[in-house]
Amino acid sequence: LRENNVPELPDGEFHNGMITRSNSTTARLHVAVALRHPNVKVIANALGAPPADLVDEIHHSGRLVAGLCGSVDHARRHAAAGVDIIVAQGGEGGGHTGYIGSMVLWPQVVAAVAPLPVLAAGGVGHGSQIAAALAMGAEGVWNGTLWLSTEESEMTDVQRRAIVAADSRDAIISRSLTGKRNRLLRSAWTEAWEKPEAPDPLPLPLQDLVAGEAVTRLETYPDANPAIHITPSGQVVGQITKVSKVADVMFELAEQYLEATDRLSALNARLQEA
Ligand SMILES: Cc1cc2nc3c(=O)[nH]c(=O)nc-3n(C[C@H](O)[C@H](O)[C@H](O)COP(=O)(O)O)c2cc1C
Repeated sequence: LRENNVPELPDGEFHNGMITRSNSTTARLHVAVALRHPNVKVIANALGAPPADLVDEIHHSGRLVAGLCGSVDHARRHAAAGVDIIVAQGGEGGGHTGYIGSMVLWPQVVAAVAPLPVLAAGGVGHGSQIAAALAMGAEGVWNGTLWLSTEESEMTDVQRRAIVAADSRDAIISRSLTGKRNRLLRSAWTEAWEKPEAPDPLPLPLQDLVAGEAVTRLETYPDANPAIHITPSGQVVGQITKVSKVADVMFELAEQYLEATDRLSALNARLQEA
């Protein structure tokens, strides 16, 4: 941070990293807040199957529980825990991610948890990718990276510019943020952790004691240096070429989906004639 001219926090200010934002105690508080809002229809859980009492509490309030998985084993554990919707996230996805690509993971998870509905995640940024997910048995898709470049997202301008400029190879795996495999955009932060003299990141949740301060300093001084930012992002970042409004992204996805399925319908018609 010093090498990249990111200022220290003002005297007396403490970093608000992920340990303070989301551990198992604060996660329960988040659920309690969510349940006070009638518009919240689904609560999604990741990094392990949700505890039985939380699943019961959410069900009793009339909502559904979704669970993110990166392997068939995870998906089965979610199903056994009473999760209603499985989100199967391929390794190309942004944020915490596993080892298996979406193309291979999605149909395996669909088969393993049927008849539970599966949402396909990881690498969906175009309507044709939605058509592919539905062709493989998913009921719908779940996007992360695609929203980062929207006008409505909470990214800083430095991050938005980095997202638009990045290609798919810039979305690398790094344990520098949480101690677990996380797909982040390459920046001076990830590169520093890859230097031979850099220490190994600490295991989750302890790496937050190191990275939390960086996250807070970069949020406080987002323009200190565009070379350094901490931005979870999937490989689909290479498909993002502009900043758009969420509504426009939704319209584009719908149009692209229709184009893709029209193409397949035309192909089917030709096959049936043959
Ligand atoms: C900036 C960012 C933050 C994320 N944070 C979380 C998170 O806190 N919990 C979670 O379950 N998934 C998280 N994810 C993963 C998304 O829920 C989603 O599964 C993933 O982004 C889908 O792949 P895609 O990035 O290729 O669209 C995050 C993804 C991004 C890009």
